[in-house]
Amino acid sequence: MDIQKLRATAAEMMVEGKGLLAMDESTPSCNKRFAEYGIPETEAARRDWRDLIITTPGLGSYVSGAILYDETIRQKKLDGTPFVDALRAEGIIPGIKVDAGAKDMAGFPGEKLTEGLDGLAARLQEYAGMGARFAKWRAVIRIGEGIPTQGCIDANTHMLARYAAVCQEAGIVPMVEPEVLMDGDHTIERCAEVTENVLRTLFGQLALQNVDVSGIILKPNMVLAGKDCPVQPGIEETADATVNCFLKVVPPQVPGIAFLSGGQSGELAAARLNAMNVRFKGKMPWTLTFSYSRAIQYPALGIWSGKAENVAAAQKALLHRAHCNSAARRGEYNDSIEQGTE
Ligand code: 13P
Repeated sequence: MDIQKLRATAAEMMVEGKGLLAMDESTPSCNKRFAEYGIPETEAARRDWRDLIITTPGLGSYVSGAILYDETIRQKKLDGTPFVDALRAEGIIPGIKVDAGAKDMAGFPGEKLTEGLDGLAARLQEYAGMGARFAKWRAVIRIGEGIPTQGCIDANTHMLARYAAVCQEAGIVPMVEPEVLMDGDHTIERCAEVTENVLRTLFGQLALQNVDVSGIILKPNMVLAGKDCPVQPGIEETADATVNCFLKVVPPQVPGIAFLSGGQSGELAAARLNAMNVRFKGKMPWTLTFSYSRAIQYPALGIWSGKAENVAAAQKALLHRAHCNSAARRGEYNDSIEQGTE
């Protein structure tokens, strides 16, 4: 394993003022989002949407890396330039989602286990040949009556650790994503408790599987109250709960933490990241940034709605969200940046 190479890639991903853009929705997830706006659920439309994202002028000023999906990494711009080359020309590192999705976990009703280890080394070799320098694997943990179970947490974190070991061997930085979902009416305290347990178990598994955590990126959820919880804590409380949880369980050797947005609005995802970077400035051993899909791609997707005449307006909206999150990454996000009046 070439740990220097992995650390160098991770450092590029975590570069000052930038974060990651997730555009790795599987075909069914992408189609589901298209259906909301009446966009045709076709390969051509998915290519057009990803083309719009990748060709957004200036995106590389705010985004250090983009996570692609198997279909997307093989696609090209209309002029024939591979998407991967177009990203690299903007200074954006291509990454690839390599898990095969969260499936119902046998013996554990209501819980999921992410699959995709079979043949992973060979797939990584192919993706590396196409230009991918980091990968992503998402595990899903649901909070509810009697769940999550330790059995589900152990199995998912074990798979994440095996995935990470295979990536490191292939010279690809593993982005390790254990997502505790926002679905439900649980309190922020319950989310903190579950997130702490998941991360503690995860870092135990990573150590057991000989993963060098100085060559990974952690992609976690923020510590939040469930969507349906009647008590919704403020931005500062959320920021404190999240970073205090990480300070307990995320080793200082981890170079970066890049959040998923998980269904938060674009404004809240930026404001919460910003609050963490303001309140814990100089007190965190790792870099804290974003790796958002929905909190960057919305509202641009609705503005586009599949129509060529809307491309420029959608790109403007996309760039705006990337700009807001880049400011939040530096702890400099504010109302005038959000309103575009700065
Ligand atoms: P969201 O930011 O929409 O949660 O997506 C991030 C991601 O990569 C989910 O796996």
